[in-house]
Amino acid sequence: MRVLCTVGTRPNFMKMAPVVRSLESCGIEAPLVHTGQHYDHAMSEVFFEELGMPRPVQNLGVGSGTHAQQTARVLVAFEQVCIEMEPDLVLVAGDVNSTVACALVAAKLHCPVGHVESGLRSFDRSMPEEVNRIVTDHLSSLLFVTEESGLRNLESEGIPSDRIHLVGNTMIDTLRENIESAVARRSWEALVGLQPKKYALATVHRPENVDDPQSLEHVIKILGEVARSVPVVFPAHPRTRDRIIDFGFEQKLPLHLIDPLPYLDFLGLMAEAAVVLTDSGGVQEETTALGVPCLTLRENTERPVTIEQGTNRLVGLNQDAILQSVSQVFAGDWPKGQVPDLWDGKASFRLSEVLKKWGGSGNHEH
Ligand code: UD1
Repeated sequence: MRVLCTVGTRPNFMKMAPVVRSLESCGIEAPLVHTGQHYDHAMSEVFFEELGMPRPVQNLGVGSGTHAQQTARVLVAFEQVCIEMEPDLVLVAGDVNSTVACALVAAKLHCPVGHVESGLRSFDRSMPEEVNRIVTDHLSSLLFVTEESGLRNLESEGIPSDRIHLVGNTMIDTLRENIESAVARRSWEALVGLQPKKYALATVHRPENVDDPQSLEHVIKILGEVARSVPVVFPAHPRTRDRIIDFGFEQKLPLHLIDPLPYLDFLGLMAEAAVVLTDSGGVQEETTALGVPCLTLRENTERPVTIEQGTNRLVGLNQDAILQSVSQVFAGDWPKGQVPDLWDGKASFRLSEVLKKWGGSGNHEH
């Protein structure tokens, strides 16, 4: 059986790396295709070096653009690859433009699609990721779910339950595999000269927070207020960095603004942060797995288990709520949280078992 695995952006790599390895160890062919949606060394290449992922057999080099341009470039380029490689299944991960584009190509070629990290819903269709999630799930034959809310969401959208498999979180497989070596790098000391548990870590890149000068100024003001009581480390996504420069905010930053970090350095910084402030999806899950308090600078989350069981709290861009939460963290008044079921480092193994069974039952001879 040949499972064509696809990646395109930074968060895809840690979700797909353990899956590729697990499939290969079951004797399933798992060639990797990179759409090239992310292309900076720090956003792409460095993850291949660190995660021990096989090199992609092809990089489609689609790069940046509007949503339509980016999606369309993946459609055209990936169709050709899919025709040439004749996979039995195309595997996509997460909720980015590359995810939905690869899924659509495969579905139109009558090739079954498997979706890693299926079923998450923010119920906010103004987020491009929400549109990508819904479309991808409805194109998929095998839906691999990370948390129980995903089962409910998919069932309520009428997706047959025999397609849905709660396997856990493959991104947390990568975290568990790398946590020791990440912490051993002591990146808080090496990169920013700080003490463990004595700093806050911030990541902000969502268009609604960074593309509009007023919103970005508001975010920076809030982080500046936090920085009055605790050093704030801010590894900036290229999009955020460009906006900070475009809007002339560089001088206003009382923060440790640094370039995007490789996986291990970022994981180490996150593990030893006192608190994390983020608008990312994956970071909400990683802090829950690590038991590190997380303030999510959004009004909603597609990952409710991180709030119900983990260490996450939704604070939006409410400065009072954020400062109060930071004080609570430093007063030791924060839920310890528990790690959700099946975020145990074995999700990729379970996913491969499902695929083996699916292949064995002749499903792939479509
Ligand atoms: C994408 C995903 C988002 C995910 C994020 C993780 C979509 C719709 N969004 O957002 O869900 O959380 O990746 O990082 O797919 N850029 C570079 N170098 C790069 C990549 C991007 O400089 O290697 C800059 C470019 O200016 C580009 C901008 O970042 O225009 C946005 O990149 P894009 O891939 O469109 O979306 P992200 O914001 O990265």
